[in-house]
Amino acid sequence: MSNPYQDDRGNTDRTITRAGGGALTASPGTKGTMKPAEAFLIGDTMTGGYGAGPDILHDCTVAVERGEIAVIVGPNGAGKSTAMKAVFGMLDVRQGSVRLGGEDITDLSPQDRVAKGMGFVPQTSNIFTSMTVEENLEMGAFIRRDDFSGTMAQVYNLFPILKEKRNQAAGELSGGQRQQVAVGRALMTQPKVLMLDEPTAGVSPIVMDELFDRIIEVARTGIPILMVEQNARQALEIADKGYVLVQGRNAFSGTGKELLADPEVRKSFLGG
Ligand SMILES: Nc1ncnc2c1ncn2[C@@H]1O[C@H](COP(=O)(O)OP(=O)(O)OP(=O)(O)O)[C@@H](O)[C@H]1O
Ligand SMILES: [Mg+2]
Repeated sequence: MSNPYQDDRGNTDRTITRAGGGALTASPGTKGTMKPAEAFLIGDTMTGGYGAGPDILHDCTVAVERGEIAVIVGPNGAGKSTAMKAVFGMLDVRQGSVRLGGEDITDLSPQDRVAKGMGFVPQTSNIFTSMTVEENLEMGAFIRRDDFSGTMAQVYNLFPILKEKRNQAAGELSGGQRQQVAVGRALMTQPKVLMLDEPTAGVSPIVMDELFDRIIEVARTGIPILMVEQNARQALEIADKGYVLVQGRNAFSGTGKELLADPEVRKSFLGG
């Protein structure tokens, strides 16, 4: 089969080929004018802080492409959660912008962003502890007016333990199981992109590995994932792209492999 856009160009960059061929099909809800070079979700040179307080983020950029896992790492208090909240609309972005599928969503409320296809699992208080597992998942589907039983079956398929414990109060579950509830809840809206803030916080190394496997599985279904992780080394191993934030600024960024190989990053952030 011949591809007219690869003749004599010596260029195998598919994004460029696709742009030339006009064969790029925008996913539902995204605009046809989308530039192929644009990341699917980007918080672009964001500066901002909480309320009237000082700036916490300084020209901070985080992004995730279609089909990818992007990971944000950095020391405690670096502004990782703040960057996630800024992308989700929980923070005043004083400079810079947030774009989803090429559309500027900087001024949208978090709820409107959910309607646009963003799923967010915050670092804390990410489940309703007194509700059952199944009620948590139902709450996740709050914006849907259609039948979501198929999505719930998919979530139970991804996290079989949740099906077993579906009538138990979520607060009675182990840390790893609670994180599964939180991720499952976010999946109930059928998001186009998933944002996870420290999905493996407080779990054992074995449970962490399991959660990472499930996260990779979600990414394989075509949902790009932007996540913060304190297990920097393990997270960068599964990351297509990584960002190291320090004091609200981008200190390093690159592919997961590049960051893992960078002597400076290793020394300062990966324990040598
Ligand atoms: N709700 C808030 N109001 C005011 N300042 C805040 C708020 N939340 C966080 N901060 C401040 O913003 C800075 C960055 O905090 P943030 O929680 O984003 O860091 P982090 O990188 O996520 O840290 P951790 O690894 O501990 O989760 C800190 O100085 C923190 O005190
Ligand atoms: Mg945090």
